[in-house]
Amino acid sequence: MTVKPPTERGVAIWFTGLSGAGKSTLAEALAPRLRALGRRVEVLDGDAVRTHLSKGLGFSREDRDINVRRIGYVAHLLARNGVFVITAAISPYRDARQWCRETIRDFVEVYVDAPLEVCAARDVKGLYKRAFAGEIPMFTGVNDPYEPPVAPELTLSTHAEPLEACVERVIDALRARGYLPA
Ligand code: ADX
Repeated sequence: MTVKPPTERGVAIWFTGLSGAGKSTLAEALAPRLRALGRRVEVLDGDAVRTHLSKGLGFSREDRDINVRRIGYVAHLLARNGVFVITAAISPYRDARQWCRETIRDFVEVYVDAPLEVCAARDVKGLYKRAFAGEIPMFTGVNDPYEPPVAPELTLSTHAEPLEACVERVIDALRARGYLPA
């Protein structure tokens, strides 16, 4: 296998974290930054994927794993063609994320680490209120597991750092790994 020069290398920037942690917001802020640096960018957002690629899947462990692996497989196809793929799905299970890491290889895992209380207080979609009221079974962080990454490339505390600072830290991590010029 020939080693591609840095400018041709794609990568998956894999945001993982609770609902409301800031994954989609980060993805939407990061994408134009990367485009401005001349990269082709695609965002695979959990909510969008679930209305198209994963329509009909629920939130059991099995369905989440299928969803996450589908995202991982599409990210793999894109990244190997030089695209910077940003994924924004909860992806709560370590095993499924590990499968994505091994499949994609050019993989930068970013733990979007906002505490449950903060996500629940934000409650952007009003789902936490319903989950705490017992109206949503298997809601991540409330009555369903979230397995934090053990060794992510980066951890972002969106409750403690401004959005732009978080985006710059992702850019720095990509530079440090040769996906962007130093
Ligand atoms: S994943 O677990 O399969 O990675 P994904 O990111 O695609 O999840 O979807 C999560 C989104 O679905 C949440 O942001 C929320 O809007 C919605 N959702 C609906 N039901 C649940 C649930 N039981 N647990 C988590 N998110 C849910």
